[in-house]
Amino acid sequence: QQPEELIIMGKKYKTDLQTNVTPGILSLVGRDLYKDPNHPVGILRKIVEDQFEEPEYTKFDDFEPVVSTYENFDVLGFPKDHPGRSVHDSYYINNNYLLRTHTSAHEHKCFERCDSPGYLIAGDVYRRDEIDRTHYPVFHQMEGARHWDRSCYRSEQDMLASMEAEVAQLSKTTQGDVVVKDVGHDPVKNPTQPFMTEQETDLVAKHLKRTLEKVVASIFNAAKAAAKAAAKAAGSKEEYLNEPLKVRWVEAYFPWTSPSWEIEVWWKGEWLECLGCGVVRELVFENSEKKNTIGWAFGLGLDRLAMLLFDIPDIRLFWTLDPRFKNQFHSGQISLFKPYSRYPGTKRDISFWLPRGKDGETLPLNANDLMEIVRENSGDLAESVKLIDEFVHPKTGRKSQCYRVNYQSMDRSLTNDEVNALHQKSLKELVERFRIQLR
Ligand code: PHE
Repeated sequence: QQPEELIIMGKKYKTDLQTNVTPGILSLVGRDLYKDPNHPVGILRKIVEDQFEEPEYTKFDDFEPVVSTYENFDVLGFPKDHPGRSVHDSYYINNNYLLRTHTSAHEHKCFERCDSPGYLIAGDVYRRDEIDRTHYPVFHQMEGARHWDRSCYRSEQDMLASMEAEVAQLSKTTQGDVVVKDVGHDPVKNPTQPFMTEQETDLVAKHLKRTLEKVVASIFNAAKAAAKAAAKAAGSKEEYLNEPLKVRWVEAYFPWTSPSWEIEVWWKGEWLECLGCGVVRELVFENSEKKNTIGWAFGLGLDRLAMLLFDIPDIRLFWTLDPRFKNQFHSGQISLFKPYSRYPGTKRDISFWLPRGKDGETLPLNANDLMEIVRENSGDLAESVKLIDEFVHPKTGRKSQCYRVNYQSMDRSLTNDEVNALHQKSLKELVERFRIQLR
């Protein structure tokens, strides 16, 4: 049962039927891993931040994570039926407020209020998701944007010349360091916008791409240095570490940018998706009281990248208070994680028949809803939850599902009794909340 009101960061919010945020999630608000200079997430943030200079870019890191649905979705032009809005995918405080699902929720305010042409934001973001080694309901993003106000220049030609000079400057910084493959964009599926001239679009896109190539190069060059040091210590040779970094631009879709792209980096034998970006839509500028303005924006998730660069096998480690983890990392350095021990896992199944509606139809159980109950009852002790079996009974037509939970602590051994108690609690709650029938 939800309390009538929730207090988050000192502010009161009335709950309602839309409320689905849990005490466990709220307890993570304010942990601010991205502000810790000696935490992998904080270290990576600093590397990215150093690529953006003040006063050209204003830097923010304390926007509160509670935002309105207007800020998180509407102002950015999310369609009414976009899946991100669903209570299955996001944590709602109530009908009007949620925990931001991305730092893009602050774009319009920054465009509106920022005096500088660029800004950079770091913050924690929240999404309901699966439970496994690479997913956690809280993670961290950085958002950046740069805009040009046409009315600040004597003429359009002046603005274009100035942009061109900036692009030339940026191109110099990564020359020889990265090999770039650019697909351009599909004029129909990923079109330019009519409020911008072709030249403007071209220069905004180039400025965006050269800036982000520099960001990606700075991250992966630091990672290469760490991997080289580790290879040397182990006496092995990793030839790929001496080659220039390979990156490619692929097309993407975001409701508030067009054209949109993602940048991928060739790393340890595969293309790795690093960030999303694009040319900001006119709608966002209009909603931010910025007339006559053009620009770009990007968003980058820190946690997945930090896992790869620091060689961290399980995302839950970011949240542990164990000094054996925390003491390994130091500001300004990418170093590979040295595992201190691995505790055994214990598996338990949740095997059940789904309930049926009035007309005998099967009522589905949303996987994220099930995950949430396991998470709330066992916290970080649930390492993964996987759907392992699903079938329909040939005679009765009833549908059965089986999820397997692996309980495993990062810091200690779990007892059977402890695991049984956690599991029983989740089973009981699942039966009560979703009227499933355990098998
Ligand atoms: N907010 C997007 C995400 O979470 C990333 C993004 C930011 C894309 C800004 C375009 C512009 O995936």
